[in-house]
Formats: sequence, C-alpha cells, structure tokens
Amino acid sequence: MNREKSEQSTLSPSLPKGFHALTVADVRRETEDATSVAFEIPAEKEQAFTFKAGQYLTLMREFDGESLRRPYSVCVSPDEGELRVCVKRLPGGRMSGYVADELKVGDQLAVMEPNGRFTLETDASATNHYVGIAGGSGITPVLSIVRTVLRAEPNSQVTLLYGNRGVNDIIFRRKLAELKDQYLERFSIIHVLAEGDDMIDLLSGMLTSEKIESLLTAFLQPKDIDGYYICGPGPMMDGAGAALERLGVAPERVKIESFGTAAPPVHAGALATQTQDEGDAAQATVIIGGSRSQISVPRNGNVLDAALAAKMDMPFACKGGVCCTCKARLVEGEVDMAVNFGLEQDEIDRGFILTCQARPLTDTIVVDYDAT
Ligand SMILES: Cc1cc2nc3c(=O)[nH]c(=O)nc-3n(C[C@H](O)[C@H](O)[C@H](O)COP(=O)(O)OP(=O)(O)OC[C@H]3O[C@@H](n4cnc5c(N)ncnc54)[C@H](O)[C@@H]3O)c2cc1C
Ligand code: FES
Repeated sequence: MNREKSEQSTLSPSLPKGFHALTVADVRRETEDATSVAFEIPAEKEQAFTFKAGQYLTLMREFDGESLRRPYSVCVSPDEGELRVCVKRLPGGRMSGYVADELKVGDQLAVMEPNGRFTLETDASATNHYVGIAGGSGITPVLSIVRTVLRAEPNSQVTLLYGNRGVNDIIFRRKLAELKDQYLERFSIIHVLAEGDDMIDLLSGMLTSEKIESLLTAFLQPKDIDGYYICGPGPMMDGAGAALERLGVAPERVKIESFGTAAPPVHAGALATQTQDEGDAAQATVIIGGSRSQISVPRNGNVLDAALAAKMDMPFACKGGVCCTCKARLVEGEVDMAVNFGLEQDEIDRGFILTCQARPLTDTIVVDYDAT
C-alpha cells in the first residue's frame, strides 16, 4: 500500500463511524464512461482498509447540502498494494458524475472501510475452476476476484464471460488482455458484444440466459465449476442465475453482486423532512456499539432512517436493500422489509434484517446491530 503521508485533512474531523478522509492517489479514465480511482493509504490506516477480493468501499460527499453515500467495488487484488475502485457515470448521477468530471489527484474524500460478502477466500493448494460472468461495470468486483485467484491460487483456473455494448465499452480491456498474456494457461476470456458482428453468433448480441447457457455448455462442464461470480445489469444477473439453475449448478456455488436498481435511491437528505408522528410510531430499542438507545420509528418509515433522524451514527451505504451494511438482528417484535437483495435465507431465519428496509409491525421492537 502507498505509505506516503496523507495530506492534512480538508474534511470534517468528525466523520461518521467507519469513515476516513483519504487522499486520491490516481484517477484513470478506463473508458469514456468509466473512471478508476486509487487512494493513498497511510500506514496507520492500512489495517482499517485491508479488504477481501470482491468487497466495496463507500464514498461519501455532500451535494447541495445533502450528504450522499455510494458503494463502489474494488477492482484489484488485496495483495497488489493498491486500493482502487471503478465508477461508471450514470446519466444525471451525482456521485458518478462528480468522479468522472471533477475528482482529481490530491483531493480528499470520505471513504468507509471495506465491506461486502461477494468475496472469495483463496487457498494456495486449491485446483479449482472459477467462472466470472460480468456485464458492463459489473466487471469491477469480478476483476478483483479474477486477479486474486490468478495470483493466490497458482493451480486454479478462471474463465470470464464478459458482456458489453461495443469494444470501446469494455472496461479494463487492456488489463484483461495483460492478464490473458500473463496467465495464458489458466485464464480464458469470452467477450460478448451486443453491437458486435462476430462470425460466431454466440459471441455477439446480448448476454441473455440462453446465451450464457450455450456458452457454458460449449466451453465448460458447468456442474464441475467450483464457484460462479456474477455481477452486471439486473436482467443479465437474473438470466445467469436461471441458466445455472437449468444446468443443475448447486446454488451454494453461485455468488451474485447487485449494484441496485434504477429506482431512485432514498437519499440521506430526505431525513431532514421526515416527520415522526409519535402517535403513529413504534418504540424501538437500538443496540449499537454496546449502548442502548430508545427511538420512535414511524409506522411508514424504517429503523435506519429513524435512528439517523435521532442523530445516531449508523452504518449504511446503499439504502436500497442491496449492500447489507445496515444489517442488524431483530431481537424482539416484528418488521416488514420492503425489499431484500442482500440477506441469505439462513440469515433471515436467524432474525437478521436490513434496517434501511425494515418497517415496524409491532408497537415495540429491539434491534441489535452488534449481533453477529
Ligand atoms: C454493493 C454495491 C457495489 C457497487 N459497485 C459499483 C461499482 O463498482 N461501480 C459503479 O459504477 N457503481 C457501483 N455501484 C452503484 C453505485 O453505488 C451508485 O448507485 C451509482 O454510481 C449511482 O450513484 P449516483 O450518485 O451517480 O447516481 P444518483 O444521483 O443517485 O442517481 C442518478 C440516476 O441514476 C439512477 N440510478 C441510481 N443508481 C442506479 C443503479 N445502481 N443502476 C441504474 N441506475 C441507477 C437513478 O434512478 C437516477 O436516475 C454499486 C452499488 C452497490 C450497492
Ligand atoms: S444500507 Fe445497503 S442494504 Fe441497507
């Protein structure tokens, strides 16, 4: 990791728990729409920013007085001595537009310590075969996994199916080609281009469920693959999941990372306008960092927003039921989750909830953020 001394922080010294002011070490345009950003990690923060392949960082910044948090996946391997994320500009996107147009080397950003479960534990003696299935900017966490396997499991193989609109949209095209040259025997890439005119039909068009099934059966023994890592647009991920199900792949071999949906996320600024009608609110006990607080949660609100409105320092990133940063255990009472794209069934069975989605159904609830 870069051990240069960080510049004097220009950010507020009282950042929320888990956030640190990091200096931007490098900004690189990967494609017209995608920008990768590396951060300096001073020696005293190295431990806090130790990450697993496939995890994400959450960037926080104010836009017109509104504090926004956005998660971005790391695209490198933990042992490469670099902490780098890649951000794809969305039309009208505030954080992604800021990164594309304004962020420069030497700037400071509030960055949360790594998080996420789209990870891979490597084993140097393993002889596994992994498959990455990525679409567009979904390559970011998948590339972190690919690089990590190639470096840390010298006898394992990786095959990557990567879908894009055209050649110029392929994020990390050069890096992928370098990896291919470096690990000729162990790494294969299959590019599928929507606007491509490849002589082989399978390699052009959208990365649909049928195409994924055909590619996997044409080149591999899908049931023998040790781990599938999928990230991309919703329809592609659904299609990939369905294809693997049809092929009889065991669900525990499949990991999916969602970046969320096009639905407008609930923004932190909305908190300021949230009214708390005590008459129509549940009483919640929130346990976090070993202390207990009593708050009111409006019946039509959620636990996380209510805690933030009560000025509590709470963990969260996407506020869309995707990243699980706001996960806690419901110890007493009942809640209803609007959406859940992150928790596994066994976690739900053990009482875990996504507090950004949890609306109280009972008059009292007890929520424990410290539970593991
Ligand atoms: C776990 C996780 C990891 C992520 N990793 C990455 C990553 O590596 N690279 C990356 O570029 N993004 C990643 N994202 C998405 C990223 O966090 C932001 O949602 C995205 O950059 C939009 O933020 P914004 O502030 O630019 O847009 P906003 O200002 O919030 O929204 C602008 C417009 O974009 C739409 N929009 C917002 N979010 C999405 C979305 N996810 N998909 C489609 N439309 C959307 C909104 O409806 C709105 O119309 C990740 C998300 C999650 C949950
Ligand atoms: S903050 Fe991401 S799931 Fe709740």
